[in-house]
Amino acid sequence: MKTLHLSGTPNPKQQAFFLSTAPHTAYGGARGGGKSWAMRRKLVLLALRYPGLNELLLRRTLPELQENHVLPLLKELSGCISYHQTQRCFTFPNGSRIKLGYCDKEADVFQYQGQEYDVIGMEEATHFTESQMQFLTTCNRSTRGDFAPRMYYTCNPGGPGHEWVKRLFIDRRYGPGERAEDYAFIPARLTDNRVLMDRDPGYYQKLLRLPEHLKRAYLDGDWDVLSGRYFPEFSQRLHVKAPFAIPTWWRRFRAMDWGYNDPCCVLWLAVSPEGQIIVYRELYVRQMLSSQVAKKVRELTGGEKMAYTVASPDAWQQRGLPGAEGDCIADVFQKNGVPLIPADNRRIHGWQRLRECLAPGADGAPGLVIFEGCKELIRTLPLLTYDERDHEDVSDRCEDHAPEALRYGVMSRHPKAQPPAEKPRPGYDPFFGPAPQRGGFASL
Ligand SMILES: Nc1ncnc2c1ncn2[C@@H]1O[C@H](COP(=O)(O)OP(=O)(O)O)[C@@H](O)[C@H]1O
Ligand SMILES: [Mg+2]
Repeated sequence: MKTLHLSGTPNPKQQAFFLSTAPHTAYGGARGGGKSWAMRRKLVLLALRYPGLNELLLRRTLPELQENHVLPLLKELSGCISYHQTQRCFTFPNGSRIKLGYCDKEADVFQYQGQEYDVIGMEEATHFTESQMQFLTTCNRSTRGDFAPRMYYTCNPGGPGHEWVKRLFIDRRYGPGERAEDYAFIPARLTDNRVLMDRDPGYYQKLLRLPEHLKRAYLDGDWDVLSGRYFPEFSQRLHVKAPFAIPTWWRRFRAMDWGYNDPCCVLWLAVSPEGQIIVYRELYVRQMLSSQVAKKVRELTGGEKMAYTVASPDAWQQRGLPGAEGDCIADVFQKNGVPLIPADNRRIHGWQRLRECLAPGADGAPGLVIFEGCKELIRTLPLLTYDERDHEDVSDRCEDHAPEALRYGVMSRHPKAQPPAEKPRPGYDPFFGPAPQRGGFASL
């Protein structure tokens, strides 16, 4: 058998990363500092040091994983360690394993449900959402006596996970169940990486020519300039309200972003006489059949009058559901007493409309408020970040199901509600307008 020769000498920051045994160690900041190299090398060293160690190395997408880790690892381990292509796993002679994976969609993390890894490496951790990270920590377990489970992260500022990485490793603000002493951060600078500086001095010059805010983020590893938050105007103080009794005559409607493996989110909205939208209830479920979601929606709605329910266009595409073959989601909802109409799905237009709703009016009150019980919407709306390729749009890597439902809701062109006439005409319903037609947008 060939002997494994690992080339390269770690720089001082990489050494610090190698030496950290904290339950959570992040190595991050500037680009080109040698983070990916250190992550690969650390996992290999651990595999050699602890026989039978089970490790998982993740990147957000498969092409990134292939390019950044599978190919370099194949080269670095140069035929000494066997690689199973279908399982995407390196198996060491001492029984240690490094499995490589990706979590493209939000729900892709569930493939690791019930699995146990002594070490998990999250490469470019800011590309992962906080819920993905939280789920992965539940897979970071060890039954062996000689090793406490650890997570290693590499990261650059910006991206859907910017806020949680910054909170845990830079701002060091901890919530229940999180202990400050469990989190270690090693800042990276491009100038630490002599190999790259010598081999490609042009890379440093390239970063120097970036616009100021990107230069500070990518060259200096500054976490304050590039939050990338799509809705910086959203604030708990301004937009989150304690529930109050909504008068029955205010117009109410629902908006849904359908999902089965990804969460399905339904929001209940009301419009005040001044035109303010109030999101007063949410349903956020995973892996629930469409007929059950419809039933739950009716249950939660109770006796409230709903003008309409807008839903994501995919509700008209998905067919062949167990127990309802041939029906699309919208058909199932219709049969279960919740007729849907397709939402206006112009993304950029919709996000813009939502931004306008969040802005305070002349009286200081925003055009949209959310009742504090709508926890998932309140949690995920501020986490939306810009799409790196299209700076008008939201990144599709965010956990966006509740915000998407909200976008459909605000795009459904609600009018201002009017107080009822003193004495309603018989048969006149001050609440319902003409029923919107299926296939058209709600334009009540
Ligand atoms: N200690 C080292 N020895 C040899 N090459 C290194 C070392 N650290 C980094 N490199 C090389 O420098 C380049 C940039 O490193 P990389 O880990 O990709 O940076 P980052 O992930 O921080 O952007 C890569 O070609 C990598 O192989
Ligand atoms: Mg890298």
